[in-house]
Amino acid sequence: MTQIRVILNGESITSREGQSVGALLLEHEQRATRTTRQNARPRGMFCGIGICFDCLITINGITNQRACVTNVEEGMTIQTQQGSGAIA
Ligand code: FES
Repeated sequence: MTQIRVILNGESITSREGQSVGALLLEHEQRATRTTRQNARPRGMFCGIGICFDCLITINGITNQRACVTNVEEGMTIQTQQGSGAIA
């Protein structure tokens, strides 16, 4: 598999082409993709197939992307999300 570079929470890391963002996070022991809007509780991968929307995360500046069904791409910027990710 081809190795690619992505930015995860400001840190440049190696990933594999075709790997999902969710799998990349788990590989790097990053279980939470976001926090809840109320009480800031951590959430992460649950169903792993795009159904539950628990794994929302910010990718390339776009909030609320599903980590489990989004494949990494060269130069992708991935940022764990606080709440809905919307700027108040
Ligand atoms: S883990 Fe359920 S939608 Fe991603």
